[in-house]
Amino acid sequence: MTRVFSGITPSGHLTLGNYLGAIRQWVAAEQPAGDALFCVVDLHALTTEHDPARVGRLSRQAATLFLAAGLDPQRCTLFVQSHVDEHTRLSYLLECTATDGELRRMIQYREKAAKAEASGQGVRLSLLTYPVLMAADILAYGTDEVPVGEDQRQHVELTRDLAVRFNQRYGHTFSVPKATVPAVAARVMDLQQPTSKMGKSAENGAGIVYLLDEPAVITKKVMRAVTDSGDDGVVYDRAARPGVANLLDVLAACTGGEPEKLAARYSQYGPLKRDVAEAVVELLRPLQERHAELAADPGEVERVLREGAGRARALARPVVDRAYRAIGLLAA
Ligand code: TYM
Repeated sequence: MTRVFSGITPSGHLTLGNYLGAIRQWVAAEQPAGDALFCVVDLHALTTEHDPARVGRLSRQAATLFLAAGLDPQRCTLFVQSHVDEHTRLSYLLECTATDGELRRMIQYREKAAKAEASGQGVRLSLLTYPVLMAADILAYGTDEVPVGEDQRQHVELTRDLAVRFNQRYGHTFSVPKATVPAVAARVMDLQQPTSKMGKSAENGAGIVYLLDEPAVITKKVMRAVTDSGDDGVVYDRAARPGVANLLDVLAACTGGEPEKLAARYSQYGPLKRDVAEAVVELLRPLQERHAELAADPGEVERVLREGAGRARALARPVVDRAYRAIGLLAA
């Protein structure tokens, strides 16, 4: 059986990028015996300036969206990271395995640290160590596969390095996981700035499709997407035409086609945008309807999360205890 683990940080409203890059893959990766775990990784939302009340609201909303997207708590484990102490217990051991140099090389750290510094907020130490906590999230469950978008690949590579290093030094303790990334839409770009990732914590939402945006809002955002100048019609070229390539990727991800082949069906941007808007609205419609039903019964979401945390704890505890003994700590 393949053990699957993945998570989303509740640092903003979830986006189409989160859905196409991650959640949709998760639904496909569910295991009959519940060997897949999906987590609202709330501790990661504390690494940059945050509003405490908002983190709680966004955590509940993310969990509700997991269910709305079709994750079935009978077939996978859904939980909140801070409910399971094993993540932070293991993180410290992995901090004693990682080096300062390898963490400073992480692209996301460099980008987010530069932003925090520029805004005068100071860079939280946890922003530097966060990929180690992410490695702990993954390794605590004996994970084989980590379904993520392209931007998380480097963190999963670090996780592999830490697992191998720990195993070599202290004896075999961890499975060495691998990232699985979708074939299309592994990196959905901002509709207004198609050279930047569509990110949930961006300040300007005009180029971001949020999963709970109204259909009219989605349509407006897509119709106003920045496209590229060029007089040879619609072609798929990620480097030279990032705006159009992004729309074609989204259309391919929604309808199941291939971006290059879809490009050949259009000679103008207008009809392409109309089709993309319609495809996204239709893709999200059932999720939005289900979300509205679930949001009316928050007690049910809490029950799922409580039960999930219990199952997750039982899986992680022996792995983390084994790591404590392997590294030389006395059994309690
Ligand atoms: P986060 O919360 O930024 O993103 C959650 C998932 O969504 C994917 N994603 C995208 N995919 C395609 N296009 C985009 N524009 C896009 N934006 C986001 C991400 O790749 C990710 O799969 N550090 C992680 C959360 C995390 C985690 C983990 C993931 C913590 N521990 C353990 C896997 C396993 C993060 O901040 O993802």
